[in-house]
Amino acid sequence: METEVTTEHDDSNARLTEQVVASFASTPDARLRTLMQSLVRHLHAFVRETEPTEAEWMSAIRFLTETGKMCDDVVRQEFILLSDTLGVSMLVDAINHRFATGSTDTTVFGPFYIKGMPERAYGENMAFTPGSPVVVRGQVRSTDGTPIANAVLDVWQTAENGMYSGQDIEQPHGNLRGRYRTDAEGRYAITTILPVSYPIPTDGPVGKMLDATGRHPWRPAHLHFMIDAPGHRTLVTHLFDKDDKYLESDAVFGVKPSLMVSYRERPADDELARRFNLRGPYREANYDFVLDRS
Ligand code: BEZ
Ligand code: FE
Repeated sequence: METEVTTEHDDSNARLTEQVVASFASTPDARLRTLMQSLVRHLHAFVRETEPTEAEWMSAIRFLTETGKMCDDVVRQEFILLSDTLGVSMLVDAINHRFATGSTDTTVFGPFYIKGMPERAYGENMAFTPGSPVVVRGQVRSTDGTPIANAVLDVWQTAENGMYSGQDIEQPHGNLRGRYRTDAEGRYAITTILPVSYPIPTDGPVGKMLDATGRHPWRPAHLHFMIDAPGHRTLVTHLFDKDDKYLESDAVFGVKPSLMVSYRERPADDELARRFNLRGPYREANYDFVLDRS
């Protein structure tokens, strides 16, 4: 008898799912139709598998409501943070860059990019807060090896306190951000400070989720890049410090071995130091970026 009741119950659940799927059958946009029908099937399967109580489902809805309320138009994007910490951002990245073309690997965009940051000269220092000085330089090329002149490298990183300008109101406008342009040989040079590992924001619902599940919020030290060049696909990536202790456990799963650099010590007052106005010993990392043609 019990088996029969369960079967009846299962049948009516399955009918409900198919009814909802069918309600999207005349969506004019075929892609939207596929997305909505697939979403309903997967969401219903999740609910069937986990059997949430009504209180649990309400708390899931509250979590998403809080996530939305935490977002602003400038630097706080809690939904990006949620997508990142659930590994979905890196899954979308992997699917959209699944064919090896010889271009530089991509990684998460993250929620802290700010548009319209200052244009900076070759080798200009973008750090107005203290830190250990570094020069990062290299070349931007096409997949066929041609150097790309006039590519724009939009760069951002945190200060030594682990916060981005814009996020931390104490930092001067444009601190540790800037747009660098490649020269006629496709070369770029950035003077900055050594990036540090830092925790992603934990004062919102994503922080609560990490805490409740025993996960840490740390990201390994990195520099962000968004590189644009005419006739090429925009490249969104990071350069990670290869000595960082969080490389194996990045809170947002963004590390790829091809994106690691070493910061080698350079003597004080050598030619590069004089050229870029660096006082005292400093470090240098080198990296060449390769862009796909669009
Ligand atoms: C970041 O590196 O800025 C970042 C990426 C994903 C989530 C949070 C921060
Ligand atoms: Fe970052």
